[in-house]
Amino acid sequence: MECLPAKGPVSPHLPFGDQRSAPFYGKDILSVKQFTREDLEYIFGVAHEMREMVARVGSFDLLKGKIMASLFYEPSTRTSSSFLSAMKRLGGDVIPINEVRYSSVSKGESLPDTVRTLECYVDVIVLRHPEVGASALAARYARKPVINAGDGVGEHPTQALLDLFTIIEELGRVQGLTVTMLGDLKYGRTVHSLAYLLSLYGVKINFVSPEILKMPADILSQIEEKEITGAEFTDLDQALPETDVLYVTRVQKERFEDIAEYEIVKNAYTITPETLKAAKEQMIIMHPLPRVGEISIAVDDDPRAAYFRQMEYGLYVRMALLAMVLGKA
Ligand code: NCD
Repeated sequence: MECLPAKGPVSPHLPFGDQRSAPFYGKDILSVKQFTREDLEYIFGVAHEMREMVARVGSFDLLKGKIMASLFYEPSTRTSSSFLSAMKRLGGDVIPINEVRYSSVSKGESLPDTVRTLECYVDVIVLRHPEVGASALAARYARKPVINAGDGVGEHPTQALLDLFTIIEELGRVQGLTVTMLGDLKYGRTVHSLAYLLSLYGVKINFVSPEILKMPADILSQIEEKEITGAEFTDLDQALPETDVLYVTRVQKERFEDIAEYEIVKNAYTITPETLKAAKEQMIIMHPLPRVGEISIAVDDDPRAAYFRQMEYGLYVRMALLAMVLGKA
């Protein structure tokens, strides 16, 4: 039996405006490379409206009757719960599958079969998977929109969108800023996606990492194609004073083939109140979280610590994305 309807416009109703002006209707969100500056402005405009709506009314019925499957093959707290909250605040419903070992995946079901099953019951699939390209594979088989919630060391496009939205809401602009990425730039998928998105703006990017955790060469060359230079350092001291956004990451223990290598670099950097003495007064500190020691809790009360606010911005961006791919924004 075929599950219908096919990928693409399905709903005749668009409360936020004319359906023809819903550019993401029925689309997958797989990679930041699919977005133009214009797209980003559109997404952030909708996210900003979502922020205002949540402040005013908390929840509303924009996606009433719609169902989202949240299919997570890797651990998650923020990404999964913010997508769940986003769907519920928009009046929709959710089928959460976090423990894939309790689903038919543990019987050996393939990803294409699992998504073709789920799309019979839902309108959109949010997928986190340990393999690079898993969401693209899922999207090839699914007729309903697939949203990449992290594919191994590949990309994390919705995180990068919320990171950029955080910068805009906190600092009012992106153009002209100096962003310093710190930590595990090799395995951290959030910095892979964010570096590319930032390259669409006139920014300066500093990459600070241990020698064995440098930003992959293909990402460096992609951003250089956009005429952005990425200066590389192993020491934060040289980059910190000029930094407007300090983006700290966790060393991704689960991605190391040799755990002895992890042990060497796991404590490479720790941001403390002492570190911040050399930083700008108006700088913001971001982190996709979870943190495991790279930002001391003594920093949390510093007004520059934006990482808890960043999580909240994620809710608005994910609300915007769900509304958009379901043709309601
Ligand atoms: C990140 C991830 O899963 O890539 N977390 C998140 O989505 N907020 C970063 C990490 O796990 O270190």
